[in-house]
Amino acid sequence: MCKKKRVPYFLMALVLLLTTLFGTAVPALAAGAAPKKKTLIMATCSDFPPYEYKSGNDVVGIDPAVAKAIADKLGMELQIVDVSFDSILAGVQTGKYDIGMSGITVSEERKQSVSFTDPYTKSVQAIIVRKDSPYTSSADFYTKDASGKKVTKPSFMVGVQTGTTGQLYSDESPDKNGFGSDHVTKYKTGADAVQALKISKVDAVIIDQLPAKSFVAANSDLKILPVPYLTEEYSIAVSKDNPELLRQVNNALNDLIADGTVAKIRAKYIKATTTAQGGDNSNTWWGRMKAQFSLNFVQGQKWKWLLQGLGRTLIITLFSAILGVIIGILLAGIRTTWDKDRESLEKKGGFTYGLMKVLNFIANLYLTIIRGTPVVVQLLIGYFIIFAASNSETVIAVLVFGMNSGAYVAEIFRSGIMAIDNGQFEAGRSLGFNYFQTMRHIIIPQMFKVVLPTLLNEFISLLKETSVAGYVGIVDLTKAGDLIRGQTFSAFMPLFAVAIIYLCIVLLFSSLVKKLEKRLRNSDR
Ligand code: ARG
Repeated sequence: MCKKKRVPYFLMALVLLLTTLFGTAVPALAAGAAPKKKTLIMATCSDFPPYEYKSGNDVVGIDPAVAKAIADKLGMELQIVDVSFDSILAGVQTGKYDIGMSGITVSEERKQSVSFTDPYTKSVQAIIVRKDSPYTSSADFYTKDASGKKVTKPSFMVGVQTGTTGQLYSDESPDKNGFGSDHVTKYKTGADAVQALKISKVDAVIIDQLPAKSFVAANSDLKILPVPYLTEEYSIAVSKDNPELLRQVNNALNDLIADGTVAKIRAKYIKATTTAQGGDNSNTWWGRMKAQFSLNFVQGQKWKWLLQGLGRTLIITLFSAILGVIIGILLAGIRTTWDKDRESLEKKGGFTYGLMKVLNFIANLYLTIIRGTPVVVQLLIGYFIIFAASNSETVIAVLVFGMNSGAYVAEIFRSGIMAIDNGQFEAGRSLGFNYFQTMRHIIIPQMFKVVLPTLLNEFISLLKETSVAGYVGIVDLTKAGDLIRGQTFSAFMPLFAVAIIYLCIVLLFSSLVKKLEKRLRNSDR
């Protein structure tokens, strides 16, 4: 009879859905629409004035301007991707970005993973300290131990940006003019390191000279100590697999150096970033607060960044939640079918039984892996490995957070189904329903009622978990706050603003959950 035939149909549909979801639809979706003009994708980290920094929503500076001139010469469209500095070379290496341009110093070590064009600038490292600090030269950072050996002063701490040459030098031992890695605190951005310096978490920051100058220009309480050694050269990084692009970019770059374009661009952005900015010189608490508020939210309409970031956070959360529920239903369906209907499956034997066994195994594996690894790591794997070819960060984030949430939702659904009295299954059977009809008409509706509050709480966690999206360059709410912080060097206002916005949304959502719970409880009576 047709009733019996439904089982393989259902399963086939399931398999089809799973394979389309993970096999074809996902990469296609993630790859996004095909571009018209050939794009040149440049990865940068916009925390490095005058080389790259944010102006409103745009990344500007020497590197973007030079890259734009190169793209124009090559008849390409420049697209800038703003990521953390330590992600740039990895992304160029895997071909995710065409070029990396971010004040990147050429080094033998880096040449192992990417190719470099000819250099377009020279630079030196500089040390930033607080004006009121006891350090007047780099010799003050060291002392001698009992045996007369040069050692770093025990309490001295230096702040650096992770993955930069500044970190490399600082990690070296004192006899090589470093400090030893115990004396080095690594920050995600140079601006974070500067903030840490301002509040005395570290005693000095080592960073390239021009960014150092602009940081000092923006912070009247800091000064630069000269460091005569450590000269470097900046180049554009290109994937080793793309010698043709390297050749083209290199030719274009050399033309632009020869005709003075690069020098002109440099002069323009150096002037724009290293002129001292007025600090807040109000001396009342209220006056300073007002100045801080204006600096962090009003000037340059930075409140808009928060608003846009919030929009991004909500979009990612919404679509991840939808994907999570779909995956959750599939996984929970497979697992409970296996648990509850195994006997009859066994009796039927053959294809259906074998298929269910495999599906159940896959479902378990999925749950184990997803729940056994941190979501940030999953995000990085999704971004740099699985969907490396895609440039749609938001889609990747939705896939990763959705797949992650799916694992938790699956267990919520499963426990919901398991919580329903076995008598309900029997009732279904006695009505002449088969297993799937029983599930659909009797069990699932009741299950939803049981799990709804837990499910909504999962969405609340999901909302907060998406705050790691900034790791792959997505400007969500958290990252928007970071961007403000990176420009204004004040931690307090942007961080509290971000926290309050999250809190408001969570409170709003929780109150909805409470109302719903009450309604459900009433409808039980
Ligand atoms: N020149 C240094 C390096 O290559 C620092 C570059 C940092 N760049 C940045 N956009 N934060 O390691």
